[in-house]
Amino acid sequence: MRKKGFGLLVVLFVGLLFLVVGVLSAADKGPDTMCIENTGYKADKKGPVNFSHKKHHDDYGLACTECHHDYQNGKNVWKEGDPVKHCKQCHNPLKKQGKVLKLQNAYHKNCKTCHKKLAKAGKKTGPYKKCSKCHAKKKKS
Ligand code: HEC
Ligand code: HEC
Ligand code: HEC
Ligand code: HEC
Repeated sequence: MRKKGFGLLVVLFVGLLFLVVGVLSAADKGPDTMCIENTGYKADKKGPVNFSHKKHHDDYGLACTECHHDYQNGKNVWKEGDPVKHCKQCHNPLKKQGKVLKLQNAYHKNCKTCHKKLAKAGKKTGPYKKCSKCHAKKKKS
């Protein structure tokens, strides 16, 4: 009886270890899906944007650096594993600062430019024309 109990404990412990490692390494890759809904815009005209983060880097095979960057002397030095800052921490929602686009334009340039480029190349892609393909209906408050 005692032996059996110990075996069970080992199984549980190993299971827990896998779970912890799994959760930790999954955490590096960010959330599977997210709802992009920043505050601080002059006017919040459009509804939030649901974004399939995991699909973008796993299924669509995009490099993290298509979207994540940390420019130093004009070069992107960010690499996978580095902490990820929110776009808003560098891109101001109210104004362009030097070469750093306003937040709305940063998102649009990132998301739409890639989708449009792929469409032009005749590849499967995401929306870039119809606002409602990205923006959910705005909740009336
Ligand atoms: C490929 C997806 C995509 C498409 C298509 C798109 N947007 Fe956006 N847009 C975004 C994302 C992502 C944000 C950032 C949302 C946030 O910060 O809350 C954003 C932000 C905005 C904002 C500022 C935030 C707000 O809610 O007021 C406006 C205004 C806006 N978009 C207008 C438009 C209009 C108008 C169109 C159609 C001509 C459009 N967008 C099409 C992805 C898209
Ligand atoms: C197609 C664009 C795109 C790709 C590719 C992408 N991400 Fe993201 N990621 C985003 C956006 C947009 C956010 C939300 C940023 C924000 O909140 O301002 C985000 C958020 C994150 C966050 C969460 C930050 C937080 O604190 O909420 C992590 C971590 C992350 N990404 C890691 C990665 C890694 C690692 C890869 C590559 C395996 C990757 N991303 C690929 C667009 C992308
Ligand atoms: C650590 C600060 C920082 C963060 C975080 C950041 N950016 Fe940027 N971004 C910059 C700077 C600085 C530039 C200007 C680079 C240059 O032209 O020298 C830039 C340029 C851009 C550009 C135009 C050039 C290009 O790479 O296509 C886009 C689009 C963009 N950012 C979108 C985003 C999005 C979307 C996010 C969030 C997923 C984000 N940025 C997060 C600092 C940041
Ligand atoms: C570097 C290229 C690239 C960037 C950047 C990018 N996408 Fe996409 N997106 C794709 C591709 C490729 C597909 C669809 C491929 C397929 O269907 O096989 C897609 C599909 C989509 C779809 C429809 C299918 C789904 O997964 O929901 C939405 C919505 C979408 N993207 C939103 C966004 C938003 C919002 C951003 C910016 C935060 C963004 N994308 C940035 C390449 C990109």
